[in-house]
Amino acid sequence: MSLTPRSSVVLFLVLILPLAGAGTGTAAAAAGYSSDDLHKVLENHGLPAGLFPRSVKSYNLDQNGRLEVHLDEPCLAQYETRVFFDRVVRANLSFGQLKVLEGMSRQELFLWLPVKDIIVRDPSSGLIVIDIGLAFKHLSFSRFEDSPVCRSKPGIWLKLGGRKGAGLKDQ
Ligand SMILES: *[C@@H]1O[C@H](CO)[C@@H](O)[C@H](O)[C@H]1NC(C)=O
Repeated sequence: MSLTPRSSVVLFLVLILPLAGAGTGTAAAAAGYSSDDLHKVLENHGLPAGLFPRSVKSYNLDQNGRLEVHLDEPCLAQYETRVFFDRVVRANLSFGQLKVLEGMSRQELFLWLPVKDIIVRDPSSGLIVIDIGLAFKHLSFSRFEDSPVCRSKPGIWLKLGGRKGAGLKDQ
């Protein structure tokens, strides 16, 4: 029996891919040590680069899209509203979508609401959709292109970070 070039390629893939997947260095997995690295990861997923603030210390992305972002400390950043970032933000990243599992809340009037989902459905619309549970916010993509400075304030962790981002009153 002789293998055609085509079937030997298939055979090669069948034999090699499971081995590659079992290793640590798969294509989708990534880790980095600055907000610049994270910018590239977000852009490669069709999302605006500045979804996280500048004080990103490191991040880790595994092959299932689990993203963990580490900041120096819990802090508040000013977008079109204030956004709270916990020291560790966990999310699932896929193309055009960041499903936030914990560590990010937005101020809406008097309430701090956990961000659940950040979605770019149609890149040509220039819009980003943020699901905060009670509502979907449609915001301009361009507002999230630059990472803002994130400022820590005494007590913000107690107020916001310690309770996994349930809807909380501000004060
Ligand atoms: C996040 O991703 C993990 C691993 O792929 C999955 O098990 C989990 O259900 C996802 N969570 C959400 C809320 O989508």
